[in-house]
Amino acid sequence: MSNFVIECHNLEKAYTASLNRLILNDVSCQIGQGEFVVLLGLNGAGKSTLLRSLVGLVPLTKGEIKIKGVTMTPRTLPQIRRDVGMLFQGGGLIRQLSAIDNVLCGRLGVRTSWQTLFGFPERDRLLAMDLLAQLGLKQQAYQKTSQLSGGQQQRVAIARALIRSPQILLADEPITGLDVVACQQVMETLSQLHTQQGITIVTVLHDLAIAAKYGQRAIVLEAGRIVYDGRCENLQAKFAKC
Ligand SMILES: Nc1ncnc2c1ncn2[C@@H]1O[C@H](COP(=O)(O)OP(=O)(O)O)[C@@H](O)[C@H]1O
Ligand SMILES: [Mg+2]
Repeated sequence: MSNFVIECHNLEKAYTASLNRLILNDVSCQIGQGEFVVLLGLNGAGKSTLLRSLVGLVPLTKGEIKIKGVTMTPRTLPQIRRDVGMLFQGGGLIRQLSAIDNVLCGRLGVRTSWQTLFGFPERDRLLAMDLLAQLGLKQQAYQKTSQLSGGQQQRVAIARALIRSPQILLADEPITGLDVVACQQVMETLSQLHTQQGITIVTVLHDLAIAAKYGQRAIVLEAGRIVYDGRCENLQAKFAKC
């Protein structure tokens, strides 16, 4: 039994008409329990495709994905999605809803329609409130998310992913477009989840300095291939622009 929580074996996502190459080209990597991995690469390198494939959102042409030792199939996908939380590029919050209601949306896949028909159970609300408080958003719980700052919105998205208690958190460009202070708050939040709760983190970033500050390991994609997989030190010397 390996200690890897994410295993990708020879992943391939095929050509499209507009792109004269594979989107993912023989991608193999193994990520251990409790690692903090930064995914880097130019626009179009395949970072989002790789991350989305880990929650079964990308039909692959070849290859195998295992999460916590379980091979991804249509049958195992619901179980896998309980273990893996995902922060989508841009957050994907419902702007008209309050912060707490957005967090509760994270429970929709867990509760049945009957269980939420008359509102979420009280213990879900308490848990959502608890998560928002942990992320420094207690005061903002009942504000519409459209009124929150970019950094606060990203933390609401993190709380929404966390309400399922995932052991693995995938984040696609969680700090893109945020100001310096908000970037730091979001990265500190991810870092705390990693160090205090042992959550395995895989995050797409663009800033090599931030990658080196928070990440333990970097995986660099170029045109659908992994061109570097190793420590985050000296990334700037190796890759001028990612
Ligand atoms: N569903 C899709 N259909 C066609 N092309 C796609 C699809 N998804 C991604 N691509 C293409 O695959 C490449 C990799 O995309 P993506 O994973 O979003 O890159 P990154 O996140 O590294 O910027 C891009 O060139 C993109 O245009
Ligand atoms: Mg992307």
